[in-house]
Amino acid sequence: MKSKEAGYSEDPKTMLEMDLKAEQETIKNYRERIRQAESSGEFALSEALRDIIRQEQDHEIDLKDALGLR
Ligand SMILES: [Fe+2]
Repeated sequence: MKSKEAGYSEDPKTMLEMDLKAEQETIKNYRERIRQAESSGEFALSEALRDIIRQEQDHEIDLKDALGLR
């Protein structure tokens, strides 16, 4: 999932780097949403968001692998 436009480039490596940046921005946003859910006592929502952030972190790992950053 992308929370914003990921951008476009003809260069595959640049494309992957833009995707990685978008994933990291998305993860940051989910962390903030999880904090907000927790502080409002919305624990079921927090659980659902944690499932999503886990998937986004996997996307981040895949992109880092593709870029040779791990
Ligand atoms: Fe994603």
